[in-house]
Amino acid sequence: MRVLVTGALGQVGADVARLLEGRAQVIARSRAELDLEKPDDIRWNVREARPDVIVNAAAYTAVDRAESEEDRARAVNGVAPGILAEEAKRAGALLIHYSTDYVFDGEKGDPYLETDAPNPLSAYGRTKLEGERAVAAAGGRHLILRTSWVYAPRGRNFMLTMLRFASERDELRVVDDQRGAPTSSLQIARATLELLDVQREHSGVYHATAAGETTWFGFAGAIFDARKRKLGEAFRMPKLVAIRTADYPTPARRPKNSVLSNAKLENVFGARLPDWREGLEEALGALGG
Ligand SMILES: NC(=O)c1ccc[n+]([C@@H]2O[C@H](COP(=O)([O-])OP(=O)(O)OC[C@H]3O[C@@H](n4cnc5c(N)ncnc54)[C@H](OP(=O)(O)O)[C@@H]3O)[C@@H](O)[C@H]2O)c1
Repeated sequence: MRVLVTGALGQVGADVARLLEGRAQVIARSRAELDLEKPDDIRWNVREARPDVIVNAAAYTAVDRAESEEDRARAVNGVAPGILAEEAKRAGALLIHYSTDYVFDGEKGDPYLETDAPNPLSAYGRTKLEGERAVAAAGGRHLILRTSWVYAPRGRNFMLTMLRFASERDELRVVDDQRGAPTSSLQIARATLELLDVQREHSGVYHATAAGETTWFGFAGAIFDARKRKLGEAFRMPKLVAIRTADYPTPARRPKNSVLSNAKLENVFGARLPDWREGLEEALGALGG
């Protein structure tokens, strides 16, 4: 099986490419090699790669910056996935594409289902939703995996930011009124590998997040507790203060409730991502001391 991975230096892309080694012929493409802002680049790369599966892990993920760069975010998140989907259809390939909890407005109390109406609050969420629709409209075999709060032992993410702040500050103020499921890049990459030979009738949107839920404040607390358990006195525990979203204004608005039900993924494929705390232990373990 030939698998083309875009965004192969990103959190999810790197793990997907690594886990595929030995299981498939991997054609891993970084932004420098395959730029989603360049439609001709996309077409040329797919035709050259002749893939059986395309895993699109590339995205414009700077949620706040997207507010002032919506056109660029749209090119990468909204338009390019449609071109990839057309090329995948032409090649007879399956397209696995990632989307986000930020397509929802967070006003629902319960976990979101795939049948719930999206209503993004941000430019990032809007452009990702456009990407979902473009993939579906192309009419080929596709899986759209909506995930959330992604982190890894490398890259730019909340876990690494908190650990850096802990080494610099005595007190950290973290938002405690946004709920979601932190999902490690390895958890989502493993789930992706379970889905490589999906048939046409299963095309569609699936929620794929770690089990359980917390808030950003709860996530930060769990990161620090785990670090303390591992490093003891060598880890200086900062004081954590819970704040409200209103106390921490950001350019992009974020949903209050980001929790996604994964029941469809489990019912259709028997796939289940483990609890977010498991993913956290594993990611922190990969950091070493
Ligand atoms: N991160 C999250 O919290 C989160 C939450 C929900 C859903 N998701 C979705 O999950 C997927 C994977 O995200 P991730 O966390 O792995 O993100 P990431 O670590 O930011 O990786 C995204 C990759 O895409 C690359 N990229 C950006 N613009 C590109 C372009 N024009 N052409 C080609 N590549 C480009 C980036 O390269 P550079 O490093 O050079 O910019 C980066 O390597 C995305 O679809 C994302 O929307 C992420």
